[in-house]
Amino acid sequence: ARLSVRDALGARSTNGERVKVQGWIRSVRSQKEVLFLHINDGSSLESLQVVADSSFDSRELAFGSSVEVQGQLVKSPSKKQNVELKAEKIEIVGNCDAKAFPLKYKERHPLEYLRQYPHLRCRTNALGSILRIRSEATAAIHSFFKPSSKIKVPEENFFNVPAFLTVSGQLHLEVMSGAFTQVFTFGPTFRAENSQSRRHLAEFYMVEAEISFVESLQDLMQVMEGLFKTATMMVLSNCTEDVELCHKFIAPGQKDRLEHMLKNNFLIISYTEAVEILKKASQNFTFTPEWGVDLHTEHEKYLVKHCGNIPVFVINYPLALKPFYMRDNEDGPQHTVAAVDLLVPGVGELFGGSLREERYHFLEQRLARSGLTEAYQWYLDLRRFGSVPHGGFGMGFERYLQCILGIDNIKDVIPFPRFTHSCVL
Ligand code: 4AD
Ligand code: MG
Repeated sequence: ARLSVRDALGARSTNGERVKVQGWIRSVRSQKEVLFLHINDGSSLESLQVVADSSFDSRELAFGSSVEVQGQLVKSPSKKQNVELKAEKIEIVGNCDAKAFPLKYKERHPLEYLRQYPHLRCRTNALGSILRIRSEATAAIHSFFKPSSKIKVPEENFFNVPAFLTVSGQLHLEVMSGAFTQVFTFGPTFRAENSQSRRHLAEFYMVEAEISFVESLQDLMQVMEGLFKTATMMVLSNCTEDVELCHKFIAPGQKDRLEHMLKNNFLIISYTEAVEILKKASQNFTFTPEWGVDLHTEHEKYLVKHCGNIPVFVINYPLALKPFYMRDNEDGPQHTVAAVDLLVPGVGELFGGSLREERYHFLEQRLARSGLTEAYQWYLDLRRFGSVPHGGFGMGFERYLQCILGIDNIKDVIPFPRFTHSCVL
C-alpha cells in the first residue's frame, strides 16, 4: 500500500507490513554497513527514517532528490522515532543537482533568502510548517462558520463586459444575508496597493461575514472575537508540531504572546478615546495624531502596546473617513459611524467591519454625496424591500496567520505573494 509519510509515522501495526512511500530526501547518512535516509513528502514536519543496507549506491541518493521507497515498516530501535522503513527497493524518481540547488543541506535559511525562491521554499521545514498551518486555519475558519456555509458569492461575469477584480465581497454578501440571514465568504481579493509594507499584498485572502438582524457593534465584535479565538484554538490543537516550530525558531516568545491574547477578553475603545491616548504620546510619532484623520500603522501599534498587547477594538470612526455604507451614529458635531477595526499585536489592523446603513433615506443621501446613486440602485433596493439592520466584517487571512505565528513579513505566509511590481510567479 502507498502511505504518506504522516500515515507511515503514525502506523499502529509495524509487524512487517509492506508499504510504498514517496517523497524528497532531507538527509543521507551512510555508515559502514547501513545507510540512513530521511524522506519528507510535506504531509508532516517529521520525516520518515529509511534504513537500507550499504548495497544501495549512496552517491545517487542526494539531498533534494525525489525517491520512491518500498519496504517494511518496523519498530525503530532508536528513541528518536517510533517506526522506520526497512528498504527493500529504493528508486530515484528525479535527481537533484546539489551544486545548483538553492536549498543547502543542513542549513537553516533565513526567510528573506527563501523569499527569492517561491517555487522551492515550500520544501523547507519553515515554509512547510507555515503552509500546513495556513491550510488548517482555512479549515478551522470554515468549520467556525459551518452552520451558515451554504452560500458562495457569485463570480463576476466576464463575457463581453469589463470585469473587475473585487476588493471585497461585502456588497454581494449583503444581498445574500438579505435572504439567508447569516453568511460568509472566504476567497482572494485584490488591491492595487502601492506599498512595500510588511502587511500589504496586492492579492490577499479575506474572510468576510455578514449577519442580518444585528443591531449593535457589541454583537458583531462577539463574532469577531469568537472567530479569532475558536479558529486559533483549533489550529493549535491540530498543528501542534508545526506551530511549535514557528514559535521556537521563527518567532521566539510568540507562544506566550499568543496565549496572552487568547486568555484575555479583547478590549474596546472609541476612535475619539484612541486619538486622545495618541495625542498624549505624540512625540513618538512621525504622523501627528488628530481627530478626523486616519490612524497610521505606528498609531495602531502604539495603541495595542498601550492596551497591554491585548487585541483592541476601535469603534465609532468619523463619518467623513469611512465609506457610504457604514451606519450613521447621528451623534452631533463629531459625526461618527458604527465602524469597528480590530487591532492586534505585531500587525495592527486585522479586522474591519461595521453596522450597515439599512435606512433608505440615509443611504440615498450618502450615495448621492459620493456620486454613486446610479450604479447602486440595486443596493438601495435592498433597503426598499424588507430592509433589516445588519452588519459584517472582513478579516485579512494572511494578517491573521502573521498574528498567531509572529511572522514579520506577510510575504512569508502565502505560497505566491503578489505585491507592487511583483506579480510574475
Ligand atoms: O478594512 P478592509 O478594507 O474592509 C473591507 O474590505 C470591508 N468591506 C470588509 C467587510 O466589512 N466585509 O479590509 C478588511 C481586512 C483588513 O482589516 C486587513 O486585515 C485586510 O483585510 N487587508 C489586507 N491584507 C493584506 N493586504 C492588503 N493590501 C490588505 N487590505 C486589507
Ligand atoms: Mg480597514
